[in-house]
Amino acid sequence: MLSRLISRLVGPLGRRDCPNPWRDFPLGRQPRADAETYLRLHSQACAAVYPEIDALEAAAGFVIDRAWMHSLALHTQTVIKDSALNFSHGRVLYSVLRRHFPQNRLPTGEGALILETGTARGFSALCMAKALADAGVPGHILTIDVLPHDVAMYWNCIDDLEGPKTRRELLADQETLLARIVFAEGDTREMLGQLGLSRVHAAYLDAQHTFEDVMAEFRFVAARQRQGDIIVFDDVTPGLFPGVVQAVDQIECSFPYAMERIQVSEQRGYAIAARQSD
Ligand SMILES: C[S@@+](CC[C@H](N)C(=O)[O-])C[C@H]1O[C@@H](n2cnc3c(N)ncnc32)[C@H](O)[C@@H]1O
Repeated sequence: MLSRLISRLVGPLGRRDCPNPWRDFPLGRQPRADAETYLRLHSQACAAVYPEIDALEAAAGFVIDRAWMHSLALHTQTVIKDSALNFSHGRVLYSVLRRHFPQNRLPTGEGALILETGTARGFSALCMAKALADAGVPGHILTIDVLPHDVAMYWNCIDDLEGPKTRRELLADQETLLARIVFAEGDTREMLGQLGLSRVHAAYLDAQHTFEDVMAEFRFVAARQRQGDIIVFDDVTPGLFPGVVQAVDQIECSFPYAMERIQVSEQRGYAIAARQSD
């Protein structure tokens, strides 16, 4: 299934004759800060303590290699933005996936398919790929973003000081894990229906944060899940993303998913939905 997907996803879907703003330096035409600033923000974010995530990791019995994650986060999460940096989704995804997959062994010969909406620079996709690799579980991450994988741009990160890079170049030192990731370029609203996916064992929804988009992505995933499968929702944060909160509440009430919520701060919350029946 995956080789068919890869051959279909080598470039953006849709009309190639139209100018695509996502391929024309969408995150800026020059570096946004000097190295010292990025390094200071990075070390502040690395020092943050999240007792709720500590508890999740302790209960799951799995902890991501923090040095590996922090090194990756310098290039993929340390950006100039108004809100505080927070890498805790890497810890959540890793622990939840490690907890999940041994309990839900795949039939012999079947690899796990994890769908992600919202790749950005690739941080979360790599944390999920690491969880599969460390668990010894065969499988892939299929991740979708309007941002291209092979067009050089500035990414609003420390690497910009070396000039424009493609995402592939940004992540080049993660070669082994990258073999588990398929990067698809396009709008999830158009892409999802064109992927030919029949099964989604786990999903991480982190693209557009409106109620309608989260529900549409959820319905796509739910139609391809069975008992025991999971979905992780990011930014389940009432003050900032009411659409995500409303979608998660509706899913809990109206669909066969049990919801586990983790509130990390006023600015960041997660929900993990576990499918209760086929
Ligand atoms: C919050 S960021 C994702 C962060 C990423 N998961 C990580 O942890 O590094 C959201 C991403 O979703 C992408 N996005 C937003 N709406 C989208 C859509 N409708 N289709 C595809 N990608 C979208 C944005 O370009 C952005 O890169």
